[in-house]
Amino acid sequence: MKLSVCIDKGTSIIPQRWILLEHGLLPNCIYTSPFKRAAEQKHSKKFLKALTKEHLLEAKNSGPRLCIDLSMTQHMTKKELSRLSAQIRRLYGSNKKAAKPFWLYLTSFAGNSLFYDECVRMNDGFVNYLVDTTENSFLDIFPLETVVYLTPDSDNALEDVNPEKVYVLGGLVDESIQKKLTYHKAREHGLQTARLPIQEYMVKNVNVKNFHSEILAINQVFDVLSTYCRTQSWPEALQAGVSPGKGYILRNKTTLEEKEDLF
Ligand SMILES: C[S@@+](CC[C@H](N)C(=O)[O-])C[C@H]1O[C@@H](n2cnc3c(N)ncnc32)[C@H](O)[C@@H]1O
Repeated sequence: MKLSVCIDKGTSIIPQRWILLEHGLLPNCIYTSPFKRAAEQKHSKKFLKALTKEHLLEAKNSGPRLCIDLSMTQHMTKKELSRLSAQIRRLYGSNKKAAKPFWLYLTSFAGNSLFYDECVRMNDGFVNYLVDTTENSFLDIFPLETVVYLTPDSDNALEDVNPEKVYVLGGLVDESIQKKLTYHKAREHGLQTARLPIQEYMVKNVNVKNFHSEILAINQVFDVLSTYCRTQSWPEALQAGVSPGKGYILRNKTTLEEKEDLF
């Protein structure tokens, strides 16, 4: 998608709109004439790129932090590495457009690895991504008490996103092959763990395959976290990241309101 201000099929959806709003370049209103507004507000690609960069770098100082733990990529097939690099591209793309971006870390990421080559091959401009990359493990760079390892197998439902914490995602694409891998890793190091509150806000949907999974791809988990940071609403956040294929739908509104009172 082009970076310049554009209107999506006549609606008021504008890429980078958050960034422009924050810089006072767009009024915070519903557009009555989106095409006119777009014509009036032409910003060069270079200008928008600079704003995006500034916005992302602000997250480095104050934003919430998200780390992708790539220590488990050595045993992955080339196909799995390609899928993981595509998920990182999607995650980074979402973060660039986010109202409140995360500062991203890629840890245990070796420059001379097959996975690095795959990221460069699959993701345009990968070497210029605004993220911190390191060959070190997250265990060696963050105080352990600040780490929350997100794992679908945790007993704790995530209640909030705390900017003082570092949320770690397992750089894995499997659903069942390496069951509970991140959970065991986190436990082994005495780390705090959390799962997305899918059980709390969603119910299983009847489907032909009778398939239900709470295991999301890392970019989907990111979309949940990012939407939560913007809306402070778990139902909205889960709706943004849990695709219908996972076999879950939101609980009805009344039950949800009761649930929110519990937290
Ligand atoms: C495809 S999942 C890999 C699942 C893998 N079996 C494991 O042991 O974590 C990729 C990563 O996304 C995160 N993730 C996926 N679903 C999640 C959920 N429901 N709650 C919390 N984190 C989740 C976890 O960090 C996980 O390691």
